Amino acid sequence: MAKKKYYKLTEIFTPSQPANYTFVERSSINKRLKRALNTPGKQLIIYGYSGAGKTTLLTNKLKEEKLDAITTRCMSGMTLSDIVKDAFNQLEVFYVSQKDITKGGKIGGSLSASYFGIKASLSSELNENDKVTAKKAIDLPITPQTLAKFIGESNKCWILEDYHKVRSEDKELLAQIMKVFMDSSVEYPKLKIIAIGAVNTAREVIQYDPEMKNRISEIEVPLMDKNNLQEILSSGESYLNITFPDVVSNKIIAYSSGLPAVTHQLALLVCETNDVTETKRNSRLKLDVKSFDDALDEYLEENSDTFKSIFETATKIVHKRKSENPSEILNAVLISNKENITVHEVKENLKLSDKNYKGNNLKKYLDELTTSDRAEILRYNKDFNSYYFSNPFIKAYCQCALRNNVKTEFNASKLLKEFRETLNKELEIARKTFLEDFNE
Ligand SMILES: Nc1ncnc2c1ncn2[C@@H]1O[C@H](COP(=O)(O)OP(=O)(O)OP(=O)(O)O)[C@@H](O)[C@H]1O
Ligand SMILES: [Mg+2]
Repeated sequence: MAKKKYYKLTEIFTPSQPANYTFVERSSINKRLKRALNTPGKQLIIYGYSGAGKTTLLTNKLKEEKLDAITTRCMSGMTLSDIVKDAFNQLEVFYVSQKDITKGGKIGGSLSASYFGIKASLSSELNENDKVTAKKAIDLPITPQTLAKFIGESNKCWILEDYHKVRSEDKELLAQIMKVFMDSSVEYPKLKIIAIGAVNTAREVIQYDPEMKNRISEIEVPLMDKNNLQEILSSGESYLNITFPDVVSNKIIAYSSGLPAVTHQLALLVCETNDVTETKRNSRLKLDVKSFDDALDEYLEENSDTFKSIFETATKIVHKRKSENPSEILNAVLISNKENITVHEVKENLKLSDKNYKGNNLKKYLDELTTSDRAEILRYNKDFNSYYFSNPFIKAYCQCALRNNVKTEFNASKLLKEFRETLNKELEIARKTFLEDFNE
């Protein structure tokens, strides 16, 4: 197929979809992922920070390896049986008793076994007459064994998105289902479960079932480094026949804090403010340096609800603690005015307002702030044993919100103005840190 010549802006910068044209290889994990996908019986857990690129990576690799999948999106409150049912529902399998199958009807698979005392046949294609008597398989009692058979018969694997949202009591069952899938792979080599989840949740399945240790491949999708993010921009530039001025691309990369999602969103907005909606015909267009500020304003407007909800999730009080509520801890992280802060420093800051403060659980609470339960507001730096805000935007938002003791509305114009001023400082810090790192 001839390569397209012209592309729409929204095909190239895709902040809310898996990247396709601008897909950047994740070289550190590529080999392992491919091997795991192609090893019969190997179950997979793909984990990483929100927005780091898990779905995109898997989508692209499945396509490359010519593997098909059905996807179930786990939501909090869903039980494992809901999840299993969802998979069944998507398979669109029907079972019909043998005598009802008319001559013209195609039966998708050769599966014709006695389940639950009924002679059942698996079919993904039935003709009109059949449909009358065909019952959706969902009406059958469902077990992991039948699910494995049905998915296996359809020649697919099963993706569980956001599997960290499965209740912990159900995760144990999930480990057992993985085992069933592993066993069934003798018959169906492509059959496997691919669970995608947040950081820190990967070990759970194994913890429930140590036997699975060698049968599960756990792959972490890391935050992107600057070169990866630059590659997204460069490939966007060539598809759209445009050039981002260096200052602009450096800012986009610095503010992204390793998240390709932010890179795509900022790049899209910069293009929009330059009236780029598709590939530039004729000569290459150099984008206006000044347009970045307008794009940033758009970005803030579009995301203020997101920042608000991250802040609220991070500071929600579940059990009231003395001196150690999330907002107090975040405040203590902020007052040192440093990019990275150690547990010890946070403790000293908390002592300023509570001189008897011991901080025995502080490390645990700081770690909690890095999990998806707390919207990953902080990140942990292993090398320096320190903590930092996951991005400059949320850091600035947090500063304003805490300073103003915001409980309700943030969008009041005074607050927004203050947020922008704070943000400008934070972004300047982020940019400088970026340049320092880059010149090393
Ligand atoms: N390898 C990549 N190359 C180019 N762009 C990417 C890549 N990976 C991710 N992106 C872009 O980053 C954004 C987030 O990616 P994705 O949705 O895959 O992340 P995720 O880890 O699945 O996030 P979530 O945890 O929210 O589900 C998307 O806009 C996507 O287009
Ligand atoms: Mg995803």
